[in-house]
Amino acid sequence: MFHIKTLNPISEVGTGRLPADRYTVAADVPAPDAVLVRSADMHTYDLEDSLLAIGRAGAGVNNIPVDICSQHGIVVFNTPGANAGGVKEMVLCGLLLSSRKVPAALQWVQTLKGRGDEVGKLVEKGKKQFVGPELAGKRLGVIGLGAIGIRVANTARHLGMEVMGYDPYMSVDAAWKMSRAIIHAKDLAEIYTTCDYITLHVPYTKDTAAMIDAQVIASMKPGARILNFARGELVDSQAVLSALDSGHLGCYVTDFPQDCLLGHPGVVAIPHLGASTPESEDNCAVMAVEELRDYLENGNIKNS
Ligand code: MLT
Repeated sequence: MFHIKTLNPISEVGTGRLPADRYTVAADVPAPDAVLVRSADMHTYDLEDSLLAIGRAGAGVNNIPVDICSQHGIVVFNTPGANAGGVKEMVLCGLLLSSRKVPAALQWVQTLKGRGDEVGKLVEKGKKQFVGPELAGKRLGVIGLGAIGIRVANTARHLGMEVMGYDPYMSVDAAWKMSRAIIHAKDLAEIYTTCDYITLHVPYTKDTAAMIDAQVIASMKPGARILNFARGELVDSQAVLSALDSGHLGCYVTDFPQDCLLGHPGVVAIPHLGASTPESEDNCAVMAVEELRDYLENGNIKNS
């Protein structure tokens, strides 16, 4: 029997499918064998002496002090791919929202409330400002061909988009084996300079911090739209705002709102909902606890 402490509410870590006779999973565990965490920040968390492992129910581990855990012999697991279905659907939603200017259109139509019989006429007169292009036939650049990126790429193909992918850790041959439906870029510059939409699916590391900066944005096609469902830190927000103001960028869709971005008409800000589906949360919790169990019972280390 293992004692696992959750740092996020049980409802958020989706532990409903776990066999309760084999583990205690609770918020209040005095000497836990392991911690299960979703997005709670563990950088100031006091690591208990009893702690052997941390299971991150999600992909990014930037909320965990991994180096300090390693020094204490605490193994950190994550759950790559477990929430990829949820994130993929939200990326597709972001593509459509940004292209067809849906958030601004929804806001505007509400302002017609109270105009009675005039509403129909006002809609016909005002809707032109929200005309936006179809996705079919446009080129989508997918940076990072992991579990999420590859799903986004394959689904975008079904929408009739031309998809160009790039993964810094994958050779063109390996990427080609994973998906023959996409064009594999020779480098990032090819993505930046030729794509109408660019979606980021790489982890936040010191190499990827602010990878989308003013210079990179300047190299993009006029009107390009950027989607960020990976981590806010990958993008230089001030550079994005300047490029939106100058009209060079068409839109920035982000799942990581920041104060400076809110209220800008060119920004579609989503409150970190990409992986927030019951299915994805369940998948992540089950995978994380299974990884913890396999480690605590058998010493096996997977996704660490
Ligand atoms: C992830 O890292 O898996 C996603 O950002 C969702 C989450 O933080 O749980």
